[in-house]
Parts: sequence; structure tokens; C-alpha cells
Amino acid sequence: ERCQALQEQLIAWQRQHGRNDLPWQQPATPYRVWISEIMLQQTRVETVVPYFERFMERYPDVAALAAAELDDVLALWAGLGYYARARNLHAAAQRIQTDWGGQLPAELSALQTLPGIGPSTAGAIRSLGHGQPAPILDGNVKRVLARLAGVEGWPGRSPVAKQLWALSAALTPEAECRRFNQGLMDLGALVCTPRDPACNACPLAASCTARAAGNPETYPAPRPA
Ligand code: ADE
Repeated sequence: ERCQALQEQLIAWQRQHGRNDLPWQQPATPYRVWISEIMLQQTRVETVVPYFERFMERYPDVAALAAAELDDVLALWAGLGYYARARNLHAAAQRIQTDWGGQLPAELSALQTLPGIGPSTAGAIRSLGHGQPAPILDGNVKRVLARLAGVEGWPGRSPVAKQLWALSAALTPEAECRRFNQGLMDLGALVCTPRDPACNACPLAASCTARAAGNPETYPAPRPA
């Protein structure tokens, strides 16, 4: 039905126009997806790439990161900022090593008990890393879904966030969830941009509420003054 057509359109678009050669996608393992998602939380892709490469060379797996000195992890992080991210990575690696035998769990609830891993990062690790279905809702995806469904209100308000999470969950396909979620992120980064969305290049334009109303750039609503 409508949901399935939309899933297929986004998946086909991602295959052709999305980003498929980012370093954390080759190969996309739970560990590599985890590290990249944490780095990408407050830092642009172009900046993250060389840090990610150095991090993987130095700490190729959970065991290596868990055994590292925190000061060495922080030194490798220098320049990325928001150092709590690096402290959380190190602490989480030690927990994964002792509680999960060095493998990131695939369950969302288990992932969310780890320091620095919230609901959207957990969804990204499960879907992009483990290849199992899970919704995501980062900043780009909030904008895409708010426009698509015409969701009013500031996503920092919990009823608005709840609506957006429900939408993301309803759209999540069983098959090809990895490509679907990467497509949502790519659409937000490459087409459905904050200021001047390229609706003519959007695979979802025909289904988009904000596009039909002629005001996609007004979504999502800003934080009230
Ligand atoms: N930002 C957050 N996650 C990303 C991903 N998987 N690819 C590109 N940019 C991202």
C-alpha cells in the first residue's frame, strides 16, 4: 500500500543517489557504525572521516578500545570536541567487553543501557550495523518526516517527538532496513535540506504534505522563543 510504495521509492533512490562509500559503510559492522554515529553526532562528515580512519587503525575492535588508556583515546579525539563522547565510548567499550563478550548487542533496550547511546544511536547500530529493522530519528530524519507528514510543532516537545518516532517506526521496513535508514539520512543531508530543499530531486515529493502545501522550509517548527 502507500507505506510500501514509499519504502520502495526511498530504497531505490538510496541505491542510485545515496552515499554508499563512506568509510563506516565498508564494512558496516556494529562497532564501526557505533563509533561513526558518535563522531557524527556533533561533527560534519568531512571532518569525521580522517578521525574515523585513525580511530579504526588504533582501536580496530571493542577489545582494543576497552584495553586502551582513557588519555590515549582523548588524545586521538583532540580536535573533535565534546570530549564526553570519547569518555562514554571508552566506558561503554569496557561494559561491552565484560557484559557482552566484546560484541555490541542487537537489542535496542540493551544498547540503550550503554553510556552515550540513546534511542536513535541504538536504532542506527541495530539497523545499519546489524542489518536488523529499527527506527531512527536524528536531526535530519526529524526534518524529513516532519515535512513528509506535515507534523506541526517543535520536535523538542515530547508529544511532537513521539509523533515523529511513531512515523519512523511505522515506515521502517522489515527488508532492507539498512538501506532505507541510510536513505532517510541521505535524503536529509543531500535533498531535504533546512533552507532550500530540492523537492524536484526528491523520491518522496509526490507523497509529501509540506511540498503540497508549498512551505517545506517551515518544517520543523523552531524552538519557541
Ligand atoms: N550522520 C549520521 N549517521 C550517518 C550515516 N550513516 N551516514 C552519513 N551521515 C550520517
